[in-house]
Amino acid sequence: MNPTIRDYHPSDLPFIYDVCLKTGDSGKDASKLYQDPYLIGHYYAAPYAVLEPDLCFIACVDQKPVGYILGTENTEQFAIRCEKEWFPVLRQRYRIPAEDDESLDARIIRLFHQGILVKPEFLEYPAHLHIDLLPAAQGQGFGRTLIQTFANALRQKDIPAFHLEVGKRNPGAIAFYQKVGFKQIAEFPWSIGFGMKL
Ligand SMILES: CC(C)(COP(=O)(O)OP(=O)(O)OC[C@H]1O[C@@H](n2cnc3c(N)ncnc32)[C@H](O)[C@@H]1OP(=O)(O)O)[C@@H](O)C(=O)NCCC(=O)NCCS
Repeated sequence: MNPTIRDYHPSDLPFIYDVCLKTGDSGKDASKLYQDPYLIGHYYAAPYAVLEPDLCFIACVDQKPVGYILGTENTEQFAIRCEKEWFPVLRQRYRIPAEDDESLDARIIRLFHQGILVKPEFLEYPAHLHIDLLPAAQGQGFGRTLIQTFANALRQKDIPAFHLEVGKRNPGAIAFYQKVGFKQIAEFPWSIGFGMKL
């Protein structure tokens, strides 16, 4: 077994969609929860890899991808860029669902129409990230190394701090973020905001 972390390559995009789905239910497999398997990747993963590939890193075992970290250096700028370059096509393709449609597919499609929210709680932490590893790759130190890799890339860009949001239904990830040095900076009804200064 040869564990490595490398830069993103465009051929990784299908894999990123796949891992996003397989970890999309608060860290567990969400494949059975969505009619359209691409929805969560369209919102939580692909736009970062496509628009900010230099902040996307791939964990591999024997050259085979097993996980990723991706994000943006500036959430506000990223939200503006997504309005121009990412969401218009998705909004055409996925129309606003009926008000009484409470399916998970409908909830994600509403996010396409909402766009990326810039929450005031995170203004001092301009960058943000998403991290996901397949189950077989968890608990072996990849997560910690991916966070360090992402933080180093931000330091090289003189970014002062970064944040993330994690669902309260994901205690494993919450414990992980606390272990690797994040501080809680916000709390929302369903999630916790963590931040790290660089
Ligand atoms: C959360 C996740 C990224 C952590 O990565 P990982 O490679 O499993 O974590 P590491 O092996 O690097 O662990 C780093 C530290 O966190 C701790 N940790 C990791 N997962 C933990 C868990 N589920 N419960 C408690 N502690 C945990 C480890 O014990 C380790 O502590 P130590 O340094 O004192 O030994 C990974 O498990 C994952 O992708 N999970 C599914 C997707 C997910 O939930 N993503 C986050 C969405 S917000």
